[in-house]
Amino acid sequence: MVSNRLKSISSLINKGEDITDIGCDHALLDIYLTLNKNCCCHCCDVSQSIIDKAICNIKKNNLEGSIDIFVGNGFNDLNLDFNTVMVLSGMGTSTILKILDKNKTHDIICQTNTDLYLLRKSISDMGYYIVSEDLVFDNNRYYVSIRFSVGRSSYNYDELLLGPCLLKNKNSVFNSYVNNMYSKIIKGYNKSIEFNSDSFNDLDLMIKCLEKYI
Ligand SMILES: C[S@@+](CC[C@H](N)C(=O)[O-])C[C@H]1O[C@@H](n2cnc3c(N)ncnc32)[C@H](O)[C@@H]1O
Repeated sequence: MVSNRLKSISSLINKGEDITDIGCDHALLDIYLTLNKNCCCHCCDVSQSIIDKAICNIKKNNLEGSIDIFVGNGFNDLNLDFNTVMVLSGMGTSTILKILDKNKTHDIICQTNTDLYLLRKSISDMGYYIVSEDLVFDNNRYYVSIRFSVGRSSYNYDELLLGPCLLKNKNSVFNSYVNNMYSKIIKGYNKSIEFNSDSFNDLDLMIKCLEKYI
């Protein structure tokens, strides 16, 4: 059974799209997209043993020949077709940005649980705008998925921190997401005062932003 986290990524993908999933792990997303959305999936992972496991999963689902799978390191140029939709999920923002340094396509879907402000800002600065976003609570964590497409954008601080589409739609999880972020930041803020840390100003800015939405 595919997790709600992976279904959330899938909700940003249209039927029949060409997908390249970098860091596919056991190819669960690609199997799901092939079976349920008729997508044409290419997927890779940096590790041969992970790819071997993924190939077993693909075979178990009788999808050999339907999913293109290979060992590949996203830190190198993977020579991707510009029209494929890249998926980068379950990685930190710094890894995602390092992969995008070498590989970029027309549409990019990311799911990270570190520094969403930096992710939105950096990819927008590369010449992309945010088409859609989804937020879910799964396995005791919040997950945000973001789809970027080539185009102009100009986002304010609140949109970069909380997501322009998430702010617009405010789904049923949004309030608890903001409250959870607020309590984590308050803890960091109190520590930053105690230790006279440089992060004080950034945290102060985040707190002022979040207080508008709780
Ligand atoms: C935590 S898993 C997430 C798997 C899957 N994308 C998901 O969301 O469930 C991260 C995967 O990314 C792979 N990975 C990390 N850095 C990579 C890179 N530079 N190129 C390709 N794969 C990478 C890891 O080997 C691992 O399988």
